[in-house]
Amino acid sequence: MPRNIAVIGAQFGDEGKGKVIDFLAEKADVIARFNGGNNAGHTIVAEKKKFILHLIPSGILHRNKINVIGNGVVVDPEVLFEEIAHLSRGGIKVTPENLVVSSSAHMILPEHIEEDKAKGSKIGTTGRGIGPAYAAKAARKGTRVIDYIQKKEKYSEKLKPFVKDTSLLINQFLDQNKKILFEGAQGTLLDIDHGTYPFVTSSNAISGGICTGLGIGPKRIDKITGVVKAYVTRVGNGPFPTELNDKTGERIQKAGNEFGSTTGRARRVGWFDAVMAKYAARINSFDSMIITKLDVLSGLEKIKICVGYRRKEKRTEEFTTNLEELENSEPIYIVMDGWDDDISNVKQFEDLPKNAKDYLRRVEQLVKIPVSMVSLGPGREQTLILRRNEFF
Ligand code: IMP
Repeated sequence: MPRNIAVIGAQFGDEGKGKVIDFLAEKADVIARFNGGNNAGHTIVAEKKKFILHLIPSGILHRNKINVIGNGVVVDPEVLFEEIAHLSRGGIKVTPENLVVSSSAHMILPEHIEEDKAKGSKIGTTGRGIGPAYAAKAARKGTRVIDYIQKKEKYSEKLKPFVKDTSLLINQFLDQNKKILFEGAQGTLLDIDHGTYPFVTSSNAISGGICTGLGIGPKRIDKITGVVKAYVTRVGNGPFPTELNDKTGERIQKAGNEFGSTTGRARRVGWFDAVMAKYAARINSFDSMIITKLDVLSGLEKIKICVGYRRKEKRTEEFTTNLEELENSEPIYIVMDGWDDDISNVKQFEDLPKNAKDYLRRVEQLVKIPVSMVSLGPGREQTLILRRNEFF
């Protein structure tokens, strides 16, 4: 049994990581975020209540778990305390017992938000000040949580009880064999180094970001799981080879409720891209894949999977982050038969329609990574486990 599991977005974010984390958190002791800020949006349905979390790790919805905001995260104190109040209204108490914030995380200040709103439109940022806060950090002009507390700013006193050296803490937890979930935000193709730059976010969303964003060594990570949607979505601008600008795209967008939980923007929709997923598997060292929202594809007569790109008359199976090359990559598809049945309440892999099982098996073959879990809806009970050994 793994002692810790990383849950990483393998596409452009919004893969359903929040639901997966929430599901796995039940058996975890610690849930730690290592990148991004309140640009993320995790929608979780727990005990018939819907919670949207942007900054606080999704493990907060379970009792007696320690949730860590690591040094790689950027923290907007206003959002942090709003979220604590939102949770409190839903009956969930947030205290220094269940939430810890790194003393060396960087703060998002009002000027970062102003700058993002003024300049972030080309990329289509979430306007939350994420880029400017990370830019200040890299330029060595940033304000860390510890600096902010010492300066006696608006939220300094309120923040203080939550603040710790979280690298020390996480390493102690690892030594004590506590079960830790590393909660990724955004996705591999939005990674500042390995995504479709400049149409990316400003942090490392890949598994490597766990080490820098929490202060642990790479050898300490046990299992790395990539989360993919059964199709692809993207919010904001940037290349998207399998994008659908037709009725099928609209249908998937509606059925999947593909509207951003952070900004409300409609998400662009496209077919599953095995070339992209294979790239994500390589960059992250995935042990397995979790496929979400398979239920959304129900009712489609034919389902396509991108298996390669045609670039300048040549076929390739390698992804590229060279924008010009990616924009000129024509997807090559295989076409699979769909299924009509509503699968959202299926409880066993064997009970899925044959064509749904074939789809999953084909994705596994193409990406060359086993599927360990399939999600068929937002609820905790709408989850199939295919490989028990990958989880707690
Ligand atoms: P930023 O992270 O606000 O700077 O936005 C940069 C790009 O990443 C934009 O295209 C955003 O739409 C996208 N983005 C940021 N966070 C998320 C997320 O959690 N899910 C999906 N897209 C995101």
